[in-house]
Amino acid sequence: MSQTAFQLASSPSSFSVEHAVRLVPPVDSGSANEPAPAPVFTATGAAVASLCAALDAAFDVCPDCDDPSRHADFARRVRAALAEAAATPDLLTPAQREGAPTTYRRHLLAADPQGRYAIAALVWMPGHASPVHAHHTWCGYAVLDGTLTESVYQWNDAEGCASETRQHPRAAGAVSFTRAGHAGIHRLLNTSGAPAVSIHLYGVAGEHISTHVNDLVNVVAAPADATLAAA
Ligand SMILES: [Fe+2]
Repeated sequence: MSQTAFQLASSPSSFSVEHAVRLVPPVDSGSANEPAPAPVFTATGAAVASLCAALDAAFDVCPDCDDPSRHADFARRVRAALAEAAATPDLLTPAQREGAPTTYRRHLLAADPQGRYAIAALVWMPGHASPVHAHHTWCGYAVLDGTLTESVYQWNDAEGCASETRQHPRAAGAVSFTRAGHAGIHRLLNTSGAPAVSIHLYGVAGEHISTHVNDLVNVVAAPADATLAAA
């Protein structure tokens, strides 16, 4: 077991992400390397502490590997940790459920002092959406409240762009885990009429959460996008 205690974020711990967009007006990919405010940490939050302990245990199954996401047991443990967190009613404080008017809002909850992972809550008001993106690192998320829509894309290496293949509703309790790379291109949207909240795990240090996770990609326009933009 890891002997290093995780760090939980305290105020100021929230910020609107640099790639956040609304469906209307059209997507603005923004700056890919805009730095995030430096997080400040404290030790509060038993439910987040339990999640950190579960992640530390997941890393213990492959202590010397370069990419833990390639280990099936690591992925299984991370999924299980997300599912347990999603089922915990007091995981987030009221302040960590606060959204923003124009973009989805990210609240940094905890960061591993060894730089192996960071945990954030994302609050999505109706109409908020992420850009279409691959990932520079492994990631996982679970929906806590409301329903998100996940659009999944297929990468065309010859064309250098991605095209949408399907959409899935992601209701409360839904869990997802993906490795880095173009095999996991997606976009999350709140197409519902109510706020949605999700928790996200990223395989980066806390200070890199805004700059070393999303890998924005070129996209072939899909009929579904036109429908959503007109909604
Ligand atoms: Fe993602």
